[in-house]
Amino acid sequence: MSFDRSLFSIRSVSAERVFPLRSTILLDGNTEASHFRGDDEASTLHLAVYDQDAIVAVATVCQEAFPGSPGDTAWRLRGVAVEPKWQGYGLGRLMIKLCIDHAQHKGGRLVWCTARESALGFYDSIGFASSSPPFTLPSRAGVLFYEMHYVLPGKPAPDVE
Ligand SMILES: CC(C)(COP(=O)(O)OP(=O)(O)OC[C@H]1O[C@@H](n2cnc3c(N)ncnc32)[C@H](O)[C@@H]1OP(=O)(O)O)[C@@H](O)C(=O)NCCC(=O)NCCS
Repeated sequence: MSFDRSLFSIRSVSAERVFPLRSTILLDGNTEASHFRGDDEASTLHLAVYDQDAIVAVATVCQEAFPGSPGDTAWRLRGVAVEPKWQGYGLGRLMIKLCIDHAQHKGGRLVWCTARESALGFYDSIGFASSSPPFTLPSRAGVLFYEMHYVLPGKPAPDVE
């Protein structure tokens, strides 16, 4: 399939716009679970990539302390999802870059996420490091997750084991 990035636009959107794709791709269509803590905070950024009028990729970044590291300079990626048809074309990387830029602009020193095992390579390729042994979540039986973090360049990092 050919890919022409100029046909896409990326926009800052309201939380409600990201819920459908977040739910379809990450939550087995469970719309009731699609609203995350932090979604409604004024500082939170929700991004959507549009193919004309259709949203084909979404990502959110919100201020949230890194586990075991108190303070208000950590930002958490949530709901990073690209429609299968458009995976592998750089949309995920672009959204993460803009989320990192947002966190840095707001004074953030660290961006972190809970990555499912299948996405480890994606975050790794962007420069995230794994900071915990794998764990499972009650809501996602059988899926291994890893906490991953990215220290923002040029800033001292909070303590991360
Ligand atoms: C994971 C996901 C967000 C990646 O988005 P994407 O647009 O397909 O990724 P990109 O095309 O921007 O890829 C960026 C880099 O990551 C690599 N990559 C992407 N997905 C990968 C994966 N699942 N495993 C290993 N590497 C991966 C790409 O090869 C590329 O590397 P390169 O720049 O060295 O060539 C997307 O595939 C997706 O939505 N997957 C299903 C939902 C999901 O797992 N979300 C993450 C929840 S934690």
